[in-house]
Amino acid sequence: MKFPPPPQLKMLSAYATRFDSDDPLAGLAVGDRPEPEVEPGWTTVSVRAASLNHHDIWSLRGVGLREEQLPMILGCDAAGVDEDGNEVIVHSVVGDPDWRGDETLDPKRSLLSERFPGTFAERVAVPRRNLVPKPGALTFEEAACLPTAWLTAYRMLFKRANVAPGATVLVQGAGGGVATAAITLGSRAGLRMWTTSRSEGKRERAVQLGADAAFEPGTRLPERVDAVLETVGEATWAHSLRALKQGGTLVVAGATSGAAPSAELRRVFFLQLNVVGSTMGTRDELERLARFCAEADARPLVHATLPLERAREGFEAMARGELFGKIVFTVGAG
Ligand SMILES: NC(=O)c1ccc[n+]([C@@H]2O[C@H](COP(=O)([O-])OP(=O)(O)OC[C@H]3O[C@@H](n4cnc5c(N)ncnc54)[C@H](OP(=O)(O)O)[C@@H]3O)[C@@H](O)[C@H]2O)c1
Repeated sequence: MKFPPPPQLKMLSAYATRFDSDDPLAGLAVGDRPEPEVEPGWTTVSVRAASLNHHDIWSLRGVGLREEQLPMILGCDAAGVDEDGNEVIVHSVVGDPDWRGDETLDPKRSLLSERFPGTFAERVAVPRRNLVPKPGALTFEEAACLPTAWLTAYRMLFKRANVAPGATVLVQGAGGGVATAAITLGSRAGLRMWTTSRSEGKRERAVQLGADAAFEPGTRLPERVDAVLETVGEATWAHSLRALKQGGTLVVAGATSGAAPSAELRRVFFLQLNVVGSTMGTRDELERLARFCAEADARPLVHATLPLERAREGFEAMARGELFGKIVFTVGAG
């Protein structure tokens, strides 16, 4: 006897329907999608809050996704409640279950929304080991900012730049999610944080956030710095190299304005600069970051909180480059 297939449950989601490199939001849809499939060793999290990253705009441009994967639920970051009622943060890096060590170095790794459905939905399926306890001191909205932008900033600062308290760090593009995270984390950790922004208003806000000084892009700095955190790319790369002292470290995790600046090799070798890449962070780094935020009273700066139904407004603000801090979508009871 044949049983009819179970009814396919639906959930509210924000997802990519097609790619458009010039008008990425043309492919964004908000509506019902099927519940995620739960693989062996995986579990489901009821999402309470999810935060927007530039990665979601890249996905709508077709970066990191193939046509046959569409429609794809977007979103890398979430905080919510697991099947046992625990408040959790979702680590977005999904790797090979047999991989041991730093998950960011797993050649088979992907982020949620690249191979598996993302977090802009009522529920998301993830490997059990990707759950990190949410500190009670953080709201769901704050915790949802940590897994991508904040984790990336944490690893850039404390692992890849490897700077000690008292060092000076320049962060390019003050207003971004990664940049506001780096300014907050660095100032809490005793680093002297300098930043640049195209907007005077954002420069003022960066100083209120904890930056020791904020400059127009390209400005000659009062002195050279120990490290630069770079996510802007072409527009700021030459300034980043010029800003470093001999033996300094440029950590690059993004290239919003373009990925092919002049390499300036003579400057790199003559000043013995270190140019290092950085991507996301490990599950353990996410757990340490969450604890640091709770104990050092470092809270993600949220530009705006919107219900998931209004996700398009958040995408539009990010695409216009208006943000200072993170956009958070609330879901269900969140
Ligand atoms: N490797 C990783 O694991 C990883 C993780 C997170 C993010 N990323 C990448 O890092 C980048 C930033 O991500 P995000 O989420 O922080 O994005 P975001 O919130 O959209 O930040 C963008 C910031 O970059 C600056 N910017 C953009 N275009 C610029 C231009 N043409 N000239 C100068 N500054 C410009 C702006 O700063 P001002 O307006 O203040 O000047 C803006 O606030 C993205 O490309 C993202 O894909 C990579």
